[in-house]
Order: sequence, then structure tokens, then C-alpha cells
Amino acid sequence: MDFILVKPHFHPHVALIQLNRPKELNALNLQLMAQLRDALRQLDAEEVVRTIIITGNDRAFAAGADIKEMAGKSAVDMLITDQFATWDQIRKTKKPVIAAVSGFALGGGCELAMTCDMIVASETAVFGQPEIKLGIMPGAGGTQRLTRAIGKAKAMEMVLTGKTLSAHDAERFGLVNRVVPVDLYLDEAVRLASEIASMSPVAVRLAKESVNRAHETSLDEGLHFERKNFYLCFASEDQKEGMQAFVEKRPANFKGK
Ligand code: HXC
Repeated sequence: MDFILVKPHFHPHVALIQLNRPKELNALNLQLMAQLRDALRQLDAEEVVRTIIITGNDRAFAAGADIKEMAGKSAVDMLITDQFATWDQIRKTKKPVIAAVSGFALGGGCELAMTCDMIVASETAVFGQPEIKLGIMPGAGGTQRLTRAIGKAKAMEMVLTGKTLSAHDAERFGLVNRVVPVDLYLDEAVRLASEIASMSPVAVRLAKESVNRAHETSLDEGLHFERKNFYLCFASEDQKEGMQAFVEKRPANFKGK
């Protein structure tokens, strides 16, 4: 069963993955997550693909992990299933991943959007971590990523009460990049993905790694990491092309070499 639809050539250099359990509001069962991990791994290896968009449908990005699948499980079942290994692999995607979110992004759905590098939201998007209402708590990064994105006070309230954020509040608090009307969110995600795809894939990869480091190390180590990646850019043909194009007053044609 295909719980996701994959379009590697949705747009030149932009691949699209659509979560495809519309009747269940794209509830993230184990099979869907495994398919998502496999698709991302494949697209990450395809040279023609430079950026990846993950989307759902207008009503739901994803309403969370599949509650019906989890309801009867024990702690040991959860431990042995080790579902977060799949999430860790998704997080390690090297190419930029943009979440195009409309409707519900709740629980694991919000966590999946936050696992992506950027979020483009429709005006109808609703973000939240309602796990507390189920007698559990976020488990796929919600307490960590939401706190880093919007700060402790607001994250604490959301995680402890299940209160949701509107798209405009999510933008105001720095969780999402931008909010557009519902008929435009996918176009806007494609526009952003295409803009990034026109840059040097080598520089984009190194820059993504470096920005992510900011959350994981001290400033001193982060600056050191950035510097090494900056030097590495000068080993690429794209650096020569980018600077030559500037001098010649023409657009650069980056090849990822
Ligand atoms: C399984 C779900 C689901 C979910 C919705 N559905 N969310 N099934 N897991 N997370 C199913 C419903 O059972 C229903 O199926 C159908 O989708 C439509 O949902 P409705 O509830 O009828 O729609 P609506 O009244 O519009 O309400 C939408 C909603 C509500 C507010 C989003 O569905 C809701 O509260 N869902 C749960 C949200 C949630 O708690 N998410 C966190 C999950 S825990 P039927 O067959 O009845 O028509 C989590 C932990 C992550 O994510 C841990 C890391 C992996």
C-alpha cells in the first residue's frame, strides 16, 4: 500500500513527496514513516534532485502519529519497534527539505514539519502538540524543536495544555517561514525550493549542515565548523563559476561539482 506519493521530477530539480492517507488525516503509521524514510534516502541520492518538498493535502499535513496503531502498545513494544530510528534517518537528509503545510500539523505531524528545514504554511495551518490530552507527551522532537523555535514559555504552554497555534501566530513566533493563502502554499513552497535549487548544491549542502550545527554545539565549535565548510566551498567548481559569473555580470550555472 502506498502511504506516500513520490514525484521526483515535480519541478526541475525539485522533488515532491505527498503524504497519502487522506481519510485518516495523514496519521503517521509505521509503514508511512518507513516509506517516507526510503523515499527521502532515494531522492537524496538522485543527482538531478536538489530540493525536496513534503506536503499533505489542504485539510491535513498530518494529524499526528497513528493513535489507533499505538493505543494497545506497551513500553517494551515501543522500545523494540524503535520507530525513532526512522525519524533519525529522515533528519539526516542532506538536501534541503521544505514542509508545505496546510490544515492540521499536530503531534508527530508538527514534529515532522519541524524536522524539515523550512516550513511554508497555508493560512489554514494549525500547529500543535496535543499529546498531553492523550496521556502522553511529544516523542519525536516536539519538546526540543518547538522550544528552540518559539522559546520556552510558549512551547511549555503548548506542550502542557495541547493549545494550538494558528498559521499567523506560528509565523510571528518564528516557527514557519511564511504564510500564504491556501491555494498558494504549494506554489510558494515550489518557488522557494526552486530558488534554493538554482544555487550551488555543494554550497547548499555545506550551509545546511552549518546552520544545523548552530543548535548542536557551542558558538566556538559552531564557528570552527562553519569555517571548515567555508574553506571546502573553495574546492568546488561551483565557487569558481559563481564568482566568475559575478565578474562577467551573468547568471551563474551551478553544476554541483
Ligand atoms: C489515527 C486519526 C488521527 C490520528 C485523525 N484520525 N487523527 N487516526 N491517528 N492521529 C482519524 C480519525 O479517527 C477519523 O477516522 C479521521 O481521521 C478524521 O478525523 P476526525 O477526528 O473525524 O476529524 P475532525 O473532527 O475534523 O478532527 C480533526 C482533529 C482530530 C482535530 C485533527 O482528528 C484529532 O484530534 N486527531 C488527533 C490529533 C492528535 O492527538 N495527534 C497526536 C497524536 S500522538 P474515522 O475512522 O473515525 O473516520 C502523536 C505522538 C507522536 O502524534 C509521537 C512520535 C511518533
